[in-house]
Amino acid sequence: MKVCVFGAGNMGAGIAQVFLTSGHEVVLCDVKDEFAQAGYKRIVNGLGKMVSKGKIAQEFADECLNRLTATTNYVLAKDAKLVLEAVIENMDVKKNLFLKLDSICSHETIFATNTSALSLTEMAASLPHRCDKFVGMHFFNPAPVMKLVEIIRAIQTSDETYEAAFALAESLNKQPVTVKEGPGFIVNRMLIPMMNEAIGILADGLASAEDIDKAMCLGANHPSGPLAVADLVGNDVNLAIMETLFEETGDSKYRPHPLLKKMVRAGYLGKKTRKGFFAYDENGKQIPGSGMKP
Ligand code: CAA
Repeated sequence: MKVCVFGAGNMGAGIAQVFLTSGHEVVLCDVKDEFAQAGYKRIVNGLGKMVSKGKIAQEFADECLNRLTATTNYVLAKDAKLVLEAVIENMDVKKNLFLKLDSICSHETIFATNTSALSLTEMAASLPHRCDKFVGMHFFNPAPVMKLVEIIRAIQTSDETYEAAFALAESLNKQPVTVKEGPGFIVNRMLIPMMNEAIGILADGLASAEDIDKAMCLGANHPSGPLAVADLVGNDVNLAIMETLFEETGDSKYRPHPLLKKMVRAGYLGKKTRKGFFAYDENGKQIPGSGMKP
């Protein structure tokens, strides 16, 4: 099946890799060639990891890359059965992309979004004649590793579209869950406020970043602590999700912590800028002892 993924960042490239290793033909599209090529490189590295762990053979990795086109030419989505966007968390940017795709894709094409928290119903409403074809397919970072995909239903999503997306996620060897649209869906409605709370503990001077994360790893059996996950996801994304939760619900329990805002203003976005609540080396590994102090 031909799939077109928009946005060649961490999530987009990771999702593209998942489709490639399941045998699909993938177009990875971004607005600048350097972004598309950076996404291609991420996939080369990701497949390389799988080869070095003995999960796939080098020949299969090469074959996956032969099925991948990294491009700025969105018209290549013309005959895709699925278009999936993983661009920045901005409603207008996502709507404009879907509007462009509407003029080139067939009416059968499924329009999927990997949004972390934005209203799928609003996206679908922007194209009323194909609103039944909209569905959320929300992958988790790192997409090639994390098993979950939230399959999100807008109020307009047809059963046919929903079931096709659910079955597709299963065919990718993922474990889908069903959720109706609501801010943050299931995971981010809990996970991002937990990070916000961890940031509050740090800002209140109660514990270091290292100890906050250690506490949640050892005390709640999380594979990585909330501040490491915040750095993995990106503080710009975390802030956007918190803002959506706060704006949509009006509930003060979702208010973004001022330190989260400060981190974003400083450009301390996490792994992608090599500085967040921790510092990272050139291979993206957390530098021991680099956590923010209270
Ligand atoms: N492609 C293929 N394989 C990859 C990969 C990639 N891009 N990235 C990592 N891997 C593999 C590694 O090769 C390794 O394989 P083995 O287990 O066979 O050795 C495995 O994944 C683990 O990777 P690492 O050894 O590099 O690192 P780790 O053991 O420290 O685990 C982690 C890293 C999987 C990220 C783990 O720390 C973890 O599960 N953390 C929590 C992640 C999390 O919570 N993600 C959700 C974020 S929220 C979100 O994404 C939603 C949103 O909308 C914001």
